[in-house]
Amino acid sequence: MNLPPADVVKGPVAAFDALLQGRAPVLALAPMQDVTDLPFWRLLARYGGPDVYWTEYSRVHATSSIERSILEAVRENPTGRPAIAQLIGNDPVAMVRAARELEKLPVAAIDLNLGCPAPVVYRKCAGGGLLREPRRIDALLGALRDAITRVRFTVKTRLGFADHQEWEALLEVFARHPIDLLTVHGRTVADMYRTEVRYDRITQAVSAMKCPVMANGNVWSPVRAAEVLRQTGARGLMIGRGCIRNPWLFDQIRAHLAGEAPVYPTGRDVLTYVTSLYAETVPVDGFSERLQVEKMKKYMNFIGEGVEDPKEFLHWIRRAETREGFFDVCQRHLDHDRPMRLVPGGGA
Ligand SMILES: Cc1cc2nc3c(=O)[nH]c(=O)nc-3n(C[C@H](O)[C@H](O)[C@H](O)COP(=O)(O)O)c2cc1C
Repeated sequence: MNLPPADVVKGPVAAFDALLQGRAPVLALAPMQDVTDLPFWRLLARYGGPDVYWTEYSRVHATSSIERSILEAVRENPTGRPAIAQLIGNDPVAMVRAARELEKLPVAAIDLNLGCPAPVVYRKCAGGGLLREPRRIDALLGALRDAITRVRFTVKTRLGFADHQEWEALLEVFARHPIDLLTVHGRTVADMYRTEVRYDRITQAVSAMKCPVMANGNVWSPVRAAEVLRQTGARGLMIGRGCIRNPWLFDQIRAHLAGEAPVYPTGRDVLTYVTSLYAETVPVDGFSERLQVEKMKKYMNFIGEGVEDPKEFLHWIRRAETREGFFDVCQRHLDHDRPMRLVPGGGA
């Protein structure tokens, strides 16, 4: 692999350090498999975007190499903001090798995934599966901390595997290692995505850790963002599904925190966003209309929750088979001038 110039390597790290040392809460794009790739980054940046962009995770095992979509995203990164590459795996030797490969790229940090709740991942004792084995986490953190010297080393975790009572013991393990940032999704692996988020457990991490802590889970409006920051005292917020639904969210949060009125999009603005999402995420190497419509349905599961009458909207979206059919449904629901909060259930 060719080394990029030293200043490219130094650039994103310095930019990330400046964010962490600055006064404003850091707003981050959460890593999301099959979502947070280069086209999505590019699109999000057009709406203001987060302060820092996470990649999807790259799987690491004895013979793995960094996944192509991740290499592409961090090499091309068109956002002007630092990017953080995430790894998932459990073999310290392979993880160190992958981290060294990533360190040569223009990334601000390498992030360890300790939260993925997919059974195919956790059964192999990776992602959230590792939360059942604090000693293995301890060894992995030690190995990665020693190995990662050119960029920052960050960790993203859930509160435990089956029960949030596991959190205290896990926090002791995290606190033993000089990691540069801990992001906490305030749920256990067993909670998946739907339960209440335990922000009180994130507050606990803020007190226990020497490094900055970022809060994650169910931040989908400027009001909620301010509440979570106040309640947890976290250094920043990581946002996933909320910004697929509402790419204006990061700028809305910035406005709200600055005491200004956030700008809400109209239905027609949301329609333009969906149209851009369709166009931008078409794969460059081969395109089938049917597959692209299927791909759009994944984003629409999140976007649909913020539309008036989400049940009816998603019912018809899920039945669309052609581009025309898909956009007919979008037009019926979004071709209007009313401002949209894009919040599930219409709340604040
Ligand atoms: C489609 C999807 C893919 C995800 N992929 C990843 C991933 O690759 N790595 C990771 O650490 N978390 C992943 N997550 C979890 C998110 O990063 C985040 O922790 C979670 O969605 C809660 O935040 P939110 O309520 O803001 O969405 C994924 C979540 C979703 C919905």
